[in-house]
Amino acid sequence: MNNKKTIKIALTKGRIEEGAIDIFEAAGIDCTELKNKGRKLIFHNKNYNIDFVLVKAADVLTYVEHGVVDVGIVGKDTLMEENKNFYEVLDLKFGCCRFAVAGPKNSKFYEGYNKKKIATKYPNVAREYFRKIGQDVEIVKIEGSVELAPILGLSDAIVDIVETGSTLKENGLVVYDDICNISARMVVNVASMKMKKDEIEEIIEKVNEEVNSREFSMIN
Ligand code: PRP
Repeated sequence: MNNKKTIKIALTKGRIEEGAIDIFEAAGIDCTELKNKGRKLIFHNKNYNIDFVLVKAADVLTYVEHGVVDVGIVGKDTLMEENKNFYEVLDLKFGCCRFAVAGPKNSKFYEGYNKKKIATKYPNVAREYFRKIGQDVEIVKIEGSVELAPILGLSDAIVDIVETGSTLKENGLVVYDDICNISARMVVNVASMKMKKDEIEEIIEKVNEEVNSREFSMIN
């Protein structure tokens, strides 16, 4: 184990970090340091010689693309929004939710000829979706609590993540259309995939086995 090359893995802070730790531990990759983290941002794993770093979602891809980390764990929402270069190697099948177009109940969003305004934290995803369906819209970038935008009259609708649907429901909004499903993904730097092939493939294999066994036990 000692002559293994060190693999740096960036985890998205928060919910994805928790899900990733759960899967890594179950796959036999020790995360003791990560679980007792305090305010530290870098954590070492001894049995696979991994350095874990904790960063915000979009930064995971920046670190991966620049090759300062080899692997990233990040939501598909971020992969779709950020135009970056990496290999997407695994669907970790947790953090499952979807992108949807939503807005006030009883609104005639798809009617009329006026250009509709869309508020979103994901302008590229929203632009691409409306381009595909051939609807000309104006996109307004919002940083959070996007559901407020149509309520306050800033937009006609939103493009956002829906998980349980309670945020929409509690704010009197409904889904107009589903865009696509989202879950946590493992991504790898293009050069690292060649330079650290054995170490990275071993991690992918371990984690993939765990993801598959969870799926198998859910089906059976
Ligand atoms: C996300 C998303 C929705 C909410 C959906 O927000 O933007 O607001 O979760 O979850 P639900 O369908 O289970 O209600 P997040 O908690 O990340 O906060 P933010 O809107 O401030 O970014």
